[in-house]
Amino acid sequence: MVVTLDDIKTVSVVGAGQMGRGIGAVAALAGYDVFVNDIDESQLAAAEEEIEWSYGKAVDNDSATEAETEAALDRIRFTTDLDEAVSDADFVTEAAIEKQSVKEDIFADLDRAAHREAILATNTSGLNITRLAEVTDRPGQVVGTHWFNPPMLMDLVEVIVTEHTEESAVEAAEALVESFGKTPIRCRRDIPSFIVNRLMRPYGEEPAWMVYRGEHTMREIDAAMKYGEGFPMGPFELADYTGAIQLRVEGADDHLEDDRPLSYETDVCPLLYQLYEKGRYGRKTDAGYYDYADRDEPEIPVDAGQGFDALLVWAPIVNEAAKLVQHDVATPEDIDTGARLGGNWPQGPLEKADEVGADAVLSRLTEVASRHERTAKVAETLPCDLLVEKADAGEAFY
Ligand SMILES: NC(=O)c1ccc[n+]([C@@H]2O[C@H](COP(=O)([O-])OP(=O)(O)OC[C@H]3O[C@@H](n4cnc5c(N)ncnc54)[C@H](O)[C@@H]3O)[C@@H](O)[C@H]2O)c1
Repeated sequence: MVVTLDDIKTVSVVGAGQMGRGIGAVAALAGYDVFVNDIDESQLAAAEEEIEWSYGKAVDNDSATEAETEAALDRIRFTTDLDEAVSDADFVTEAAIEKQSVKEDIFADLDRAAHREAILATNTSGLNITRLAEVTDRPGQVVGTHWFNPPMLMDLVEVIVTEHTEESAVEAAEALVESFGKTPIRCRRDIPSFIVNRLMRPYGEEPAWMVYRGEHTMREIDAAMKYGEGFPMGPFELADYTGAIQLRVEGADDHLEDDRPLSYETDVCPLLYQLYEKGRYGRKTDAGYYDYADRDEPEIPVDAGQGFDALLVWAPIVNEAAKLVQHDVATPEDIDTGARLGGNWPQGPLEKADEVGADAVLSRLTEVASRHERTAKVAETLPCDLLVEKADAGEAFY
């Protein structure tokens, strides 16, 4: 059985898209023998080309030598044959498309094809990992390892534990991530969207409601968060960049059907549906919240956010972070590390809470909640017990 890092020599990646090829590149550069598998031959060819390109970039910026990248390339094998890809693997990461049924089929195949000792991981962004574990005969050796895009450059990997996962498998996964030169944070429960994407959600969501209700403008909020608070992008600019409008609208029903702990209760803001129906998905369609036909970047005047209270945006995020601590999903340190490394945020939400005081956060959250009509949305902005306790006692999270 794979119980420690020393047992891991060969790493396989199933699904050679954007993420799988990046994970394979990182693993090979760290010295592991790597198999990259896909059902689509052309994806394997594209993966090989992109890995070579990314290794060239690594040499250019002095993060690897030419000898190291050449040796790494020699360690990678590309194949459409799943049995060949995983029969020698000690650690398999599935990075195929984000569909529960597809992933369950893959996990059943992996359980049959991989040796009995291997750990099976998934790169899902938030699907039900417990159910993936349950289609195998080794639920204790199934774990989530959620990477950030692009894997070669992003430092963070969330390691997700299901109720079946054995501690030895979690520790081996975390040690493997560290051996890749990445930082693991532990998500102790299999909840929708894990840690970082749960923080990202209110960052996009609450500002959308504020604009929908006509209380603030996009440029006002984007400028305040970007230039005032130091986020890499404001919430609307970020949504256009990631394609969040399409993802949220198309994924809305999946979330409503999710019965795991801490499942979402909310509706999607109607503003997103209005944009979606016009085909305004973000940058890739040349229009989202902003128009991109004539420019690559939205025009956000630096001083447009003056007077906007950024704590109104922070408050629901802090509440979400406090909820994760209260429900024993993650430590404050891991939550804040996730925000900094996964979102490139200037600080984590619980660091922010300690800076301004939980009582200030609570008062803004109460204001945000009072602006919502009586919908499921109200439930999601209700302060969690831990935040109220911290505010009442005047206590910090650290
Ligand atoms: N793109 C991101 O920013 C990001 C970030 C974190 C996690 N993820 C998650 O990583 C996974 C992959 O995302 P992506 O962006 O790389 O997707 P992608 O669409 O770029 O690649 C998916 C690949 O999976 C292949 N595939 C489909 N069915 C397969 C099967 N049965 N066996 C083997 N390969 C199969 C496809 O041919 C394709 O090459 C998803 O679960 C996604 O939610 C994505």
